[in-house]
Amino acid sequence: MAHIRNSVLAVASIALLVLPHSDLYAVEPNAAPTTGEVTFSEHIAPLIFNNCYECHRPGEAAPFSLMSYEDVSKRATMLQEVMERRFMPPWHPAPGHVEFHNSRRLSDDQLALYSKWVATGKAKGDDEKLPELPTFAGGWRLGEPDLVVTMPESFHVPADGRDIYRNFAIPLDLPEDKWLTAIEIRPDERSVVHHVLYFSDESGVARGLDGRDGKPGFRGMGFRATQVGGWAVGGVPSKLPYGLARKLPQASDLILACHFHPVGKAADVKITAALYFADKPPERDYVRFQIPPGYGRGTKLSQGVPPGEKNFQIEGEFTLPAKAELIHVSGHAHYICKSMKATATLPDGTVLDLLSLPAWDFNWQGQYYLKEGLWLPKGTVLRGEVNYDNSADNLNNPNDPPKLIKWGIQSTDEMGSLFFGFAVNDGDLFPDQGRPRGGNRAAGLTQRLKALDKNSDGKLQADEIPAAFRPLMSRIDKDSDGVLDRQELTESAPRLRQLFGGAGR
Ligand code: HEC
Repeated sequence: MAHIRNSVLAVASIALLVLPHSDLYAVEPNAAPTTGEVTFSEHIAPLIFNNCYECHRPGEAAPFSLMSYEDVSKRATMLQEVMERRFMPPWHPAPGHVEFHNSRRLSDDQLALYSKWVATGKAKGDDEKLPELPTFAGGWRLGEPDLVVTMPESFHVPADGRDIYRNFAIPLDLPEDKWLTAIEIRPDERSVVHHVLYFSDESGVARGLDGRDGKPGFRGMGFRATQVGGWAVGGVPSKLPYGLARKLPQASDLILACHFHPVGKAADVKITAALYFADKPPERDYVRFQIPPGYGRGTKLSQGVPPGEKNFQIEGEFTLPAKAELIHVSGHAHYICKSMKATATLPDGTVLDLLSLPAWDFNWQGQYYLKEGLWLPKGTVLRGEVNYDNSADNLNNPNDPPKLIKWGIQSTDEMGSLFFGFAVNDGDLFPDQGRPRGGNRAAGLTQRLKALDKNSDGKLQADEIPAAFRPLMSRIDKDSDGVLDRQELTESAPRLRQLFGGAGR
């Protein structure tokens, strides 16, 4: 316990320091402001190439390229303005108690260096000292992929109408089981793609459904598939840190579950996906859950946010049943969300700000991994809150005049939830039981459920249900009688296994 405390405190105490990301740096970061002359070649090019060029290059989402002295100097004051407002580079979390992996926040020193360059006449400097532009293999941000697959045919998204949810099954033809660390996708027509979730399907069911209605893809996900990741507008892919990876069995097809949003102009979209594999299986599992659960379904959002309401909040809490190592926090909501926040209250009452997005922007659904895992002790209360503004003052309001907005899956409906991701050792969430014996994880789950079933009646009564199941109760307890019977547990086995130490091992 002392050890856990110490690491929590150690992480908390270095937390105020927000460093720029280093993993993406292809160029040596620029030095702090110097007493000498500030030049483009020596000081500004590294700053721009490392922090802007990733998106501000041909073929990417940003409206112009930033790859030469001319590109930068002709817009020098506009760039300064957006950097000082911290509008660019896009980075939405407010500084808090944890540092994020690949943080894009520029330091005050970097801003000072840039403004000195502008104020002293934008010197070009010695061309010899100009760093090379970072390279992106085949344009991919994550480097040379291990496998690249493309939808065989384009899908037509009309100019207007309701949002379209459509899945596409892409055969991977893997030679053997693989360990997936990242998927990067590239739609050839970005404007209409709202988000894409990735699933794997070993059953061949999805492949059979694809194209049945005469158009590429299929609707609905009426079969068992395993989610392996996701991408949303503005999201930048990153590899799972901490040596984590997800199993992709040899027979897997990749399912792209797409959400298209008509934008007033018809588009034919084809998505290409790059897959990245790890060399070896992960040592630990990755467990993620939502607060409030179910994207906020079942909260006050079911009654809806009244038109004109500026301060509407949903929230949820979850008490950790055992110590756990937090590695990821993110959130999801739609247009009228204003801000969201995730905190952890330690047993001694200390409140840690884990993630605060003070100006939620629907177009940037960021995924935030902690730079260093944060051990949270048993009894820590995790809290997630999401705030909405359904007034006409909210420029993102999809309705003019505002109208009642309820929970729903259209992007003009609302949702809201904070996601917490943990790296878990087998048995971490069931400390009393230790590790299940044998390598068979399915057997492991049965064994764990058996151990919980104190009166051995094959069901879990309220007093047998561990706190860790609570965020999932509404999903598992289908008949809502507060008891988990054998059928309910069997049906939820994949979900339970994924959550409590079984994700694909
Ligand atoms: C993750 C991708 C990304 C990175 C990194 C990034 N930009 Fe951008 N930038 C964009 C996109 C996308 C837009 C257009 C979005 C918009 O207009 O809201 C944009 C727009 C801009 C604009 C125009 C703003 C306006 O009001 O029209 C400026 C100026 C700019 N970026 C400067 C920078 C600078 C300087 C950096 C680095 C310090 C940077 N950007 C880093 C994606 C990025």
